[in-house]
Amino acid sequence: EQANIGVVGLAAMGASLARNLAHHGNTVAVFNRHYSRTETLMNEHGSEGKFIPSKTVEEFVQSLAKPRTAIIMVQAGAPTDAVINELADVMEKGDIIVDAGNAYFKDTIRREKEIRARGLHFVGCGVSGGEEGALLGPSMMPGGTDESWKTLGPILKSIAAVAEGEPCVTHIGTDGAGHFVKMVHNGIEYADMQVIAESYDLMRRGLGMAPQEISDVFAEWNKGDLNSYLIEITSQVLSHVDEKTGKPFIDIVTDQAGMKGTGTWTVQTALSLATPVTGIGEAVFARGLSSEAELRKEAQEKVLQGPDPTESLAKIANDADAKKAFIEDIRQALYASKIVAYAQGFTEIEAGAKEYDWTIDLGAVARIWRGGCIIRAKFLNRISDAYGKGESFGSLLFDSFFKQAVENAQDSWRRVVSAAAQAGVPVPVFSSSLAYYDGLRSKRLPAALIQGQRDLFGAHTYGRVDEPGAFHTLWAGTQKEIKQP
Ligand code: 6PG
Repeated sequence: EQANIGVVGLAAMGASLARNLAHHGNTVAVFNRHYSRTETLMNEHGSEGKFIPSKTVEEFVQSLAKPRTAIIMVQAGAPTDAVINELADVMEKGDIIVDAGNAYFKDTIRREKEIRARGLHFVGCGVSGGEEGALLGPSMMPGGTDESWKTLGPILKSIAAVAEGEPCVTHIGTDGAGHFVKMVHNGIEYADMQVIAESYDLMRRGLGMAPQEISDVFAEWNKGDLNSYLIEITSQVLSHVDEKTGKPFIDIVTDQAGMKGTGTWTVQTALSLATPVTGIGEAVFARGLSSEAELRKEAQEKVLQGPDPTESLAKIANDADAKKAFIEDIRQALYASKIVAYAQGFTEIEAGAKEYDWTIDLGAVARIWRGGCIIRAKFLNRISDAYGKGESFGSLLFDSFFKQAVENAQDSWRRVVSAAAQAGVPVPVFSSSLAYYDGLRSKRLPAALIQGQRDLFGAHTYGRVDEPGAFHTLWAGTQKEIKQP
């Protein structure tokens, strides 16, 4: 018997994906550069389904039925290129290579072009949900041709998470579209995590609450509008106790956030598309600041003066009613900032689709994020509803549901941002999201002044509110205005 699908790269994610495929009736060819990983998989899980292990790429390709379909799950960058080329050398016309790693979408565009020129299909497929998702049902974002989707679609649907009865996978668009959408997913993930972190910080350093008490608050929030995987695991992390010391786990973890690049790509890409993803940007920079170990140490030594959060908020913290109200304000600030971050992320997908000539169904993107992925949340049903109406609108913030939600939240949101500033608790995503919202709703922006400055120092010209065309004022001379030809 030949395999209908293959997996190359049997580290945690690849092995889980292979097992998931086998659990769903697929016959799975498996290959790993070092055979020991293949052996481990076969020894520990070989009986869970039909696997065909191979020791060489040639054997692996021969064990696949045509059109041969191989999913690569190796490290992004050079290792991925190496495996793609090895496979392409032995594969034949019509075969399909799927890169399921977190590849940079421009690499995917390049690879698709190269592989297509060799008569093969190349599909860049975003996979979200971590190890558990890969094993039990991830959310998947494949790009590539319609033709490759015909073969790949049913296989991916067989292993995807299911939300509201629908598999969490859809053909996103051609070439790099899938990896683009996965990249933005990760950017949103960063913002989502940061707004949760800011909420925690306000409760911990501001209100002086213990981790377990905060864990209970998140557990409560998880029952409402904020219901989501990230809120759920936040509660779990905060109630965890360190085995070694008996201290709250959160207090023994170094406060320097790591990152592997997808958030940075989201922001870099947004910058080049001139699409403001301020929430995601601030989330990436907040991780960056946390990891500036030397600079932070020096700041401690130099004692940069400022308010003490706990002292500043003591009055609220010591009054049960005021405390309860402030915690509710934080919940609303989180919710509003989260809406802004998603609105910005979806706007970036729209801008990317325009730039790279993809047709992306934003409603479908929201639907496949409802299950399996890291940002899965009840909230995504609302986004799916918003885009599902089929009307085109410029921002999620204009959809009646979200417009109302932000309007309801905004008094709380403003109170939290000002209290945080007064108390010296950094809330970069809360405050930048609020600035975005206020920027968007402003009738007149001070950009007019910037235009004036640009024209004065560099004759960059400006537009007038009352007449079309480009104008320049002779600032150094007669002060007269001239219309550009
Ligand atoms: C997912 C995650 C996954 C990974 C991130 C983490 O969707 O399953 O997004 O892709 O956890 O890449 O990224 P950082 O290491 O940059 O936080």
